[in-house]
Amino acid sequence: MNVLVAKNALDAERIAYTIIKERLAGKNAFVLGLATGSTPVGMYKMFKQDALDCRHVTSVNLDEYIGLGADHPQSYHHFMKERLFDEVPFKEHFLPQGDAPDAEKEAERYEQLVRSLGVDLQLLGIGENGHIAFNEPGTALDAKTHVTELTASTREANRRFFNELSDVPTHAITMGLDTIMNAREIVLVATGTRKAEAVHHMIEREPTVEWPATILQAHPSVTIVLDVEAASRCDDARQARGREAADRFFSIRTNA
Ligand code: PGA
Repeated sequence: MNVLVAKNALDAERIAYTIIKERLAGKNAFVLGLATGSTPVGMYKMFKQDALDCRHVTSVNLDEYIGLGADHPQSYHHFMKERLFDEVPFKEHFLPQGDAPDAEKEAERYEQLVRSLGVDLQLLGIGENGHIAFNEPGTALDAKTHVTELTASTREANRRFFNELSDVPTHAITMGLDTIMNAREIVLVATGTRKAEAVHHMIEREPTVEWPATILQAHPSVTIVLDVEAASRCDDARQARGREAADRFFSIRTNA
């Protein structure tokens, strides 16, 4: 686990974007795992500002709400179209179909699709409760793409995108922890103090299903990009205070 701490959220996004850009460069084909939520928005702006060439890139998204069709304004299909795909042409892009008649079958189909494509690099955010994608606390480590019930805290955290809490879907189709761990490389970005506890568990505490992101400690190629706020509960980041004044970013020690 390589952990980089940037001075602020914008610098963290720039670092993560630069890693992605470097990996895409010079490849004939690339499978890029994408995420939704607030965290990747700044990075997707950088794709657009740079007019990054993604015509050779196939994207696969982590998850989709059950019950929302692709045209629903709060669906992740719609989010991706608006934030990225409308302006940056990809070779192909895939997300789970939230309004499929049989969600379990759709989860199986999506798992097969992701496995057959093989993800070269997966971009991740992290939930305040330590979830990655919608793998909520308690999710089995060997979970494949599956239907999941969202926790009250996740629905509350995502409420800001909806009119009412009751509008936030109760279930989602999500890549499983095992699906995510199968990616060749993972880049996780976390910014802001509300992520600090989850980040502390992810990088400094023992792996546990109660904090799903701790599974990443077992992945051979993970880069975690934080801002100082998200790193503020990490012991080594606290000891490293001051280093950030001199450098664009600094590294901290991890459990893995
Ligand atoms: P956020 O969500 O980027 O909106 O903070 C991340 C997540 O819940 O995985």
